[in-house]
Amino acid sequence: MKKILVTGSRGYIGVHLVALCKAYGMHVTGCDIGYFEGCEWDPFPPSDVEWKKDFLSIKENELEGFDAICHLAAISNDPMGELDENLTYRVNRDGAISLAQKAKKAGVPLFLFAGSCSVYGKAGSLDLDENAPFNPVSAYARSKVEAEREISKLSSSSFSPVFLRNATAFGYSPMLRIDLVANNLLSCALATREIRVMSDGTPWRPLVHCKDIARAFIALIQAPRQLVHNQSINIGGNNENYQVKQIVEKVKSLVPDAKVVYTGEVGADPRNYRVSFDKLSKLLPDFKLQYSLDSGLEELYKFMKEKKFSREDFFSDKFVRLRRLKQKLQK
Ligand SMILES: NC(=O)c1ccc[n+]([C@@H]2O[C@H](COP(=O)([O-])OP(=O)(O)OC[C@H]3O[C@@H](n4cnc5c(N)ncnc54)[C@H](O)[C@@H]3O)[C@@H](O)[C@H]2O)c1
Repeated sequence: MKKILVTGSRGYIGVHLVALCKAYGMHVTGCDIGYFEGCEWDPFPPSDVEWKKDFLSIKENELEGFDAICHLAAISNDPMGELDENLTYRVNRDGAISLAQKAKKAGVPLFLFAGSCSVYGKAGSLDLDENAPFNPVSAYARSKVEAEREISKLSSSSFSPVFLRNATAFGYSPMLRIDLVANNLLSCALATREIRVMSDGTPWRPLVHCKDIARAFIALIQAPRQLVHNQSINIGGNNENYQVKQIVEKVKSLVPDAKVVYTGEVGADPRNYRVSFDKLSKLLPDFKLQYSLDSGLEELYKFMKEKKFSREDFFSDKFVRLRRLKQKLQK
């Protein structure tokens, strides 16, 4: 039985990953500091072993015996990264590098890092592959670039880091987030009968269902190690690159009485990138996304209706990481 450590195990993607690890017969230890305790939207299965602590405090000897570490714990989005740049670098970059160093010393062969397509940032051209230059436009994206660079240097015949450069996640999770573009537009439409778009709607963004990200982690754990050794891999699908205005159209088709309002408050959004996912298909030809934007949004819409997602929910701090974390940091 494979022994897996998932950090950030009680986050939006982490809860899907823990459930999948268990479904695949793996023994999973979850480590989470619990920033979003009390924000649960739906029940989810616990890890086999729960470490409720800061992953920065994990000691080398605690890592002995794991077959793989899936490192998801992070201060996890762009505006949140701007909340406190030092915290973002300390956790997302320095913490990740230190965990990888300990993992290597402890003899863990596989270190899967939750990176992001936002490392491409303000792209000079569209359809970026893994060799495209980094152009991060936020502390969050810079922290992911720098972590990837340093952790990659640790690779050896006995230590294989793998960098999942995930597209922007969306869709249902028991630890729902509505601060991600597609979820935000849908929840705004349902709660306020308005679809408020902060850009002019033209930026391109690759999207991927949060459960498909978790499935990609599983596929990479199961892949032959030499195949994925020290590889950076964009996680998403070529047909799942959308302009924000296309996401708006999908949301409008689900909530037809919602009015579309372009607030333009962020001007021309600098995060504009379309991504190629050919490498993922080449490396893991059997891995297919389970969700498209259509099917994922329909599923989320169904859950939100069932759970009577309300104005209070929309404006609360439960599903918006930045609001919740600000509160936590003030305490
Ligand atoms: N959601 C996306 O669109 C997306 C896209 C690309 C990459 N990612 C990456 O995937 C990972 C997971 O994202 P998510 O959307 O599930 O985020 P999330 O905020 O929902 O979950 C992160 C979890 O990590 C935990 N955590 C934070 N700091 C910690 C620490 N020091 N020690 C232990 N636990 C800690 C939090 O309590 C939280 O439960 C992150 O690394 C994120 O950068 C997410």
